Amino acid sequence: MRDQLKGRTIFITGAGGVLGSTYVRRMLAQGARIAASDLPGRRAEALQEAHAGNPDFRYYDLDVADEAQVSEIFARILKDGWQPNVVLNNAAITGELLMGAGQPFPDFADLKLADWEKTLRTNLTGPFMIARQMDRDIVGKWPVALINVASMYALNGAHHRIYDGMPFKNFSAYGVTKAGIHGLTVWLAGYWAARGATVNTIAPGAVFNGHSDEFQRRVGELIMLNRMAEPDEIADAMLFLASEQAGYMTGQLVNVDGGFSGW
Ligand SMILES: NC(=O)c1ccc[n+]([C@@H]2O[C@H](COP(=O)([O-])OP(=O)(O)OC[C@H]3O[C@@H](n4cnc5c(N)ncnc54)[C@H](O)[C@@H]3O)[C@@H](O)[C@H]2O)c1
Repeated sequence: MRDQLKGRTIFITGAGGVLGSTYVRRMLAQGARIAASDLPGRRAEALQEAHAGNPDFRYYDLDVADEAQVSEIFARILKDGWQPNVVLNNAAITGELLMGAGQPFPDFADLKLADWEKTLRTNLTGPFMIARQMDRDIVGKWPVALINVASMYALNGAHHRIYDGMPFKNFSAYGVTKAGIHGLTVWLAGYWAARGATVNTIAPGAVFNGHSDEFQRRVGELIMLNRMAEPDEIADAMLFLASEQAGYMTGQLVNVDGGFSGW
């Protein structure tokens, strides 16, 4: 399909990450205009370099955990002349992100309240603040689609054994926030329906990002298709959710997990 996203202006948080940067590349190729955001740093710089000079790409620094920054984001985008009709709540503190930052994975008994609260603030309160700002600034003014991002570990428990001896683990606050985000989706879907806004959740499965052969084997056994996903395979579903073709879907959780949640 070509130009699947023509006429779509997509605002995306955490756009410099593994999946975010894939969505940006694929969405631009389908004719979308992208207002990308992330924390300042090397991921954001690489994203801006990759799309420098593309008139359909704009970049905004944004910490989704910062209420003052979130309160201004749509005003900034609108002031620059774009009207977002798709918002993608993609930013999150992930296990891989913590590993990259060299942070240790504590046992559950040793999890610091500050780390628990930081994860809730970023992964759940952040998307809430983005949605609340959408309500204030754009919902009801033109049709809008909000896509929240959960995980295969939102409504299923983590398989702790597959992380034995691995440099990263799944951490409790992550799954809790990913379960919570679908609660935000279904609450808002009904609340916004009369104002022409849809809200859905995508729940990606395990995405390959340089994981060891042993980890791939262990997680593969839990997945019907017996392998991890490529980022582009998650993007394939994301393109549909961001397109006009998803216009009659709202309040739904879309699993893109190779069958992990199916047995
Ligand atoms: N990769 C996977 O296997 C997988 C599986 C299921 C769900 N997900 C979800 O998909 C989304 C993207 O994941 P990813 O794999 O690209 O992760 P990633 O760690 O590569 O990217 C996350 C991005 O979020 C940004 N971020 C973190 N805190 C932020 C904050 N306070 N404000 C703004 N941006 C912030 C980071 O800078 C980073 O660019 C996340 O919501 C993640 O939970 C990923």
